[in-house]
Amino acid sequence: MQYSQKVLDHFMKPHNIGKIENPDAEATEGSPACGDQISIYLKINAKTQVIEDIKFQSYGCASNIATGSIITDIAMGKTLKEAKKIGWKEAADALDGLPPIKMHCSVLAVDTLHKAIKDYEVKHNLAEADKFNKETIVEELKKVIYPQVGEDIVTLKMVKYAGFENGVAIIDLEIPKFDEHRDNVVEEIREHLEHYKEIKEVKITI
Ligand code: FES
Repeated sequence: MQYSQKVLDHFMKPHNIGKIENPDAEATEGSPACGDQISIYLKINAKTQVIEDIKFQSYGCASNIATGSIITDIAMGKTLKEAKKIGWKEAADALDGLPPIKMHCSVLAVDTLHKAIKDYEVKHNLAEADKFNKETIVEELKKVIYPQVGEDIVTLKMVKYAGFENGVAIIDLEIPKFDEHRDNVVEEIREHLEHYKEIKEVKITI
């Protein structure tokens, strides 16, 4: 697998690695695609809402560690509002690209940063905890990366329909039968959705 020099540099010598004791906010997320995990810790200035310290611990692969390193660099010194705009494509670009099959590792790291920010906002009454609805399903589908091209399945228009009725998440996909990644995508969708207590069943048709 071909990694950029920047990925290798951040993987070999990651920045901002470790744990913050008594953080103002934190989040730990696991990847349905590979089972790896990452935690992000934040220290935030309550007056200015600037991220004054940020650290991460990763039990993931080189791409995940490199993304954790670069996004903590980017987020350091930013306000929460600014840091919320950091996306996985920006992170991958800042690393001079990631192999398509490794994009989900970047999604995992950035998603964890967003969850840590949300954790702070909810604790400080700056935002409400996310309410589950059909949009939640679409947002989760946007985190499912089609490994061949490193893009999410919603952007690739592989999702023909996504709905939620009486506890059943209904997903209609368009992926050719002979596609070698088809089963992985289906499996990943299930893993993204099945942990929501609001979802009793995930129905996927292709
Ligand atoms: Fe698991 Fe990269 S985070 S393969």
